[in-house]
Amino acid sequence: MRILVTGGAGYIGSHTVAELVAHGHEVTVVDNLRQGHREALRPFPSVAFHELSLQDESQMVELMRSRGIEAVVHFAASSLVGESVQKPLAYYRNNLCGTEHLLSAMVAAKVDRIVFSSTAAVYGEPSDIPILESSQKQPTNPYGETKLGIERMLHWSSAAYGVRSASLRYFNAAGAHPSVPIGEDHNPETHLIPLVLQAALGQREAISVFGTDYGTADGTCIRDYIHVCDLATAHRLALEWLETASGAHAFNLGNGSGFSVKQVIDASRKVTGRSIAVREVERRAGDPAVLVASPAMAEQTLGWRRDYTNLEAILETAWRWHESHPHGYSESLS
Ligand code: UFG
Repeated sequence: MRILVTGGAGYIGSHTVAELVAHGHEVTVVDNLRQGHREALRPFPSVAFHELSLQDESQMVELMRSRGIEAVVHFAASSLVGESVQKPLAYYRNNLCGTEHLLSAMVAAKVDRIVFSSTAAVYGEPSDIPILESSQKQPTNPYGETKLGIERMLHWSSAAYGVRSASLRYFNAAGAHPSVPIGEDHNPETHLIPLVLQAALGQREAISVFGTDYGTADGTCIRDYIHVCDLATAHRLALEWLETASGAHAFNLGNGSGFSVKQVIDASRKVTGRSIAVREVERRAGDPAVLVASPAMAEQTLGWRRDYTNLEAILETAWRWHESHPHGYSESLS
């Protein structure tokens, strides 16, 4: 299949490129490199890379036509929850308007299949655990709101233009590729696992634990950590499934089991063999106590199976990446 990946130089994007290339697909990446890393595509010489913004709609149409694109995987977005609260309009512009341009270009170029990078943040504070796709959706921040808005845009685009879509709602993406030198490198880094591993490397004095008074067994928040390569597999399966499926669909992508912040830190001590100092601080605004997915629908409909169901196995791959790239991709520049 000839596939266009937007945001393919980012964390989940580059791992999905690895999966698609390994399965013989012809991949074109567009990324404006505001958050993505050109070096993340270096291991894939067959990939055609274009530094382009989705807002350049006519260039996107031209690219889709000239490359004979058959399907799109759409990652390009701003994705920091805290920043979205500070700059909601920037999130609406980049995420919602960017996707509107992308979909308009797809309609013009007659590309009718899209796999969209959605998020557990569409649910907000969940009413039930595990979370089902049909659970109540009430985002508590502009980031989740824009992703839910895009899911709705896909729904209406299905009816009006015949665009077929799968929105994949990721829980907590973690880990790194086991054999290709790609991994997580955000600036600023806000996610728990890379920050814990930076503390293990001695790059930060301690890891701050945001809140120890939640109604969970050890008082810290519980999340469903899912390996980035398992996410990548789900994107490939969704693309293949959309060859015959019509309509707009959504799937949760998680392991279906939760780990607390303290459990993640303990497991990281074990995996790294290093001491990791902890500082207990106030809750971070907007953090739900527990987020755990039901992955049953993706299993049943897409035939999705995970290679990494064990937290320590996920952490081991992340640790190998951080230990070998303590400054992320900037290492590869020298
Ligand atoms: N945490 C800490 N200390 C830190 C960083 C995080 O204690 O320094 C805690 C958070 O409070 C949270 C857990 O670790 O309980 C995980 O936090 P992350 O920031 O790693 O991930 P989130 O669960 O906040 O965010 C993830 C995705 C978002 C998505 C969100 C859905 O990264 O894209 O789930 O709520 F929007």
